[in-house]
Parts: sequence; C-alpha cells; structure tokens
Amino acid sequence: MCCSGGWCRIALKINEGDVFLSITSEQVDLSPLNTFKVAAKAKYFLIVDSLAAIRSALPVIQQHNHRLVLGGGSNILFISDFDGLVIYPQIKGIDLLHQDDNRVRISVGASENWHQLVLTCLKNGWYGLENLALIPGSVGASPVQNIGAYGVEVKSFIHQVEFIDLDSGEVKLFAKGDCQFGYRDSFFKRATPGRYLITRVEFELQKKPDLCLSYQPLKTFFAGLSDVTPTMVMERVCQIRREKLPDPDDIANAGSFFKNPVVSESQFERLKQEYPQMVGYATASGVKLAAGWLIEHAGFKGMTEGDIGVHKHQALVLVNYGEPKGRKIWHLAKRIQRAIQEKYHVQLEAEVRVIGHDQ
Ligand code: FAD
Ligand code: EPU
Repeated sequence: MCCSGGWCRIALKINEGDVFLSITSEQVDLSPLNTFKVAAKAKYFLIVDSLAAIRSALPVIQQHNHRLVLGGGSNILFISDFDGLVIYPQIKGIDLLHQDDNRVRISVGASENWHQLVLTCLKNGWYGLENLALIPGSVGASPVQNIGAYGVEVKSFIHQVEFIDLDSGEVKLFAKGDCQFGYRDSFFKRATPGRYLITRVEFELQKKPDLCLSYQPLKTFFAGLSDVTPTMVMERVCQIRREKLPDPDDIANAGSFFKNPVVSESQFERLKQEYPQMVGYATASGVKLAAGWLIEHAGFKGMTEGDIGVHKHQALVLVNYGEPKGRKIWHLAKRIQRAIQEKYHVQLEAEVRVIGHDQ
C-alpha cells in the first residue's frame, strides 16, 4: 500500500486477482462531476471498479453512515459540501447473456454511459432504447428514476437489477416487478440515499423493431412514412432534444428540475376554466400537467438572476451560467415552487436529487 499527495492507492489481493481502490480522506472537488457544475467538496471519496472491490471496501464504506453513490451527476444538485463518503463506481462491460430470433438479453455495468449503450444496441440490432437516446448519465442510474422520454420508460426493457446493500453487504437481484417502477420513481429512488449501489442492469431488447411513435412530435414527423427504422427514431429524438434542451457542456443544468405534477380530474377541470390553454394528459392516477407550461405562464421562462436562471426554450430546466453555489439554484427552485402553489394550487416536486444542507 502506498500513499501520495493525500491519495491512498490500495491494491487488495483477492482470488480473482488485484482489485484497485482509490480512496482519499482529502476534500475532493465534485464540480467536474455534476452537470450543474456547482462547487462542492466530498469529505471522503472512493472509486470502486467491481463488485469484488466493493465487497473488499465494505469495512471502509460501513464506517460512514452518510454516503452518496454518484454516477454522471446529471440529476443532482449539491447545495453544500458533502460531509460524508461519496462512492464513485467505475463498473464497466456489456455482456451478451442470451439470444433467440426475437430477443436478446444483455448485462451492463453500472458505469457504462447511457447514450453510448443506446448507440451500441442499435449497432448490434438490439432495439427498444432508441427513444431514450441522449439522456445523460450512467446505466446504473437508469433504474433509479426509471428514466423516460418521448413515450418510453426504461422499465419496459429492464429484466433485472443487481445491487449491493452497503449496510449488510448482501448482493441482491431485483426482477423488474420488485423495483416498484413509477413515473420518475422506483424502490431505489425512495430508499435511504447511499444504502444501495446498483452494480449491473440486465436489459431484454428486441431483435425486430417495435417502434414507439406515440409522442406527438415523433408521430407528426414520421407521419406517412412506412420504412421508419429505430436509427431514424434515435436520430430524430437527438435532434428534438438538441433543439429543446441545453447541452450541459454549453450551459450547466440537470434536465427537468421538477416532475410533471399529477392532479385529480376535478382539479384539472377547475384549472381549465381559468386557464383554457393549460396542457394536461390523462393517466391512470389522474391528469398529468406540463410543469413547463405552469412555470412559463407564471412568468419565469427565460428569466436570469445573476448567473442562474430558467432556460429560454424549456421552463422546466434551471440553468447555471457560472454561479458556483448550488444553494442559489435551490432558492430559485423553491421560489418557483411557491409561485406555482400560489397561482395554481399545485405542488411541484423536485425531480433532481438535492444533496446537502441549506445553511
Ligand atoms: P446521478 O445524477 O449521478 O445520480 C442520480 C441518482 O441516482 C442519485 O440519487 C444517485 O445516488 C443515484 N445513483 C446513480 N448511480 C447509482 C448506482 N450505480 N447505484 C445506486 N444509485 C445510483 N432524465 C430522464 O428520465 N429523461 C430525460 O429525458 C432526461 N433528460 C435530461 C437532459 C439533460 C440535459 C440532463 C442534464 C438530464 C436529463 N435527465 C433526464 C436526468 C438524468 O440524465 C437522469 O436522471 C440520469 O439517469 C442520471 O444519471 P447519472 O448517472 O448522472 O446519475
Ligand atoms: N411546455 C411549455 N413551456 C415550456 C416547456 C414545455 O408550455 O417551457 C409544454 C410544451 O409545449 C408541451 C408540454 O409542456 O405541450 C410538454 O413539453 P415537453 O414535450 O418538452 O416535455 P416535458 O413534459 O417538459 C418531459 C420530461 C423530459 C423528457 C420530455 C420528453 C419530465 C419531468 N420531463 O418534459 O425529461 O425529455 O418530457 O419526453 O417528465 C428529465 O427528466 O430531466 C427530462 C428532461
């Protein structure tokens, strides 16, 4: 074992060979590791590159009650330094487990990049994920909030999720039905942060395309075309996303800051009387309102305040033009929540995970 510059690089010998863990007790800068690009430091930071490495590191991990598993940092807002252990998995690999004429099952390491996985699947003729192209972040985070876009949610293609309970050290496999998937929701999203670390996700994909073109802008674009391919859908989705959503490399953001709220049919009827243009979609649990519409019509779209603001093309996206403090973005989000509550009597819930303390 050797230590240099505050970093300790530990090589642990286990049966399979050497497992490398990098651990530091120094304050680690998280600003390059979150797409809001806000300044925050992790008191402790651990990189693990396999399930075996996590198991070896459990004695270290379990010394910390306050933990965070960090993927691509594209759905997180740090509002203060993180006074605990950030675990940054680097578990890679795409394995083909099984295939027949119709389906293929693959197992993917949690730290593979989501969009690259979508492209790899298309290249191999494995279909289903094309509507979810260009969503930032890691494969391991995809079940956490059941990522969704353009009429598709990832739950439709998840076969099972492998994860480790960091409190007990137990490795578990959850079938799709165990994951309690909902709209931007799952067992993992509701669990105590830092308790479960997803190591691999198994997907079941189709070998024969079964396109989902129910989302209106896709339906309109492909209307009348009979030879639409999954790659064409992926390309159109990327184009729509580039037009509507800011690329975090250009303008720091974390996608939709809030979930679209669901209200009762009677509340929607009352709102429609006052705001006839209000956008709403019927769902099994009520009417889903477009939070972007609510925020835009409350006057926030395109506003800036110092270095932060609301995106000019998508009012659901809060943006950071350079402000290092996540807390200011959180204060703006809370102001928007209050304004929406006062104007429409609708509660907006943050989709982004807010980490830290507001003091
Ligand atoms: P992080 O932000 O690092 O983490 C998010 C949460 O998952 C945290 O609670 C974290 O602890 C947990 N987590 C991460 N990895 C693991 C793991 N291995 N095990 C256990 N827990 C873990 N989302 C959508 O659903 N649809 C969209 O269309 C969409 N568009 C976006 C557009 C932009 C421009 C941006 C910036 C974000 C968008 N998002 C969208 C949100 C985001 O990309 C997704 O939520 C993504 O899955 C987050 O992945 P991540 O690796 O960055 O997770
Ligand atoms: N709208 C406005 N003003 C705005 C933004 C939207 O009036 O500023 C209206 C649009 O005109 C449209 C409706 O709201 O009628 C819905 O807009 P859009 O199709 O852009 O989708 P969204 O509901 O704003 C959701 C997801 C996105 C996902 C898109 C596409 C949530 C919280 N957001 O946005 O996911 O990419 O649909 O499916 O569900 C994310 O989760 O981070 C994310 C970006």
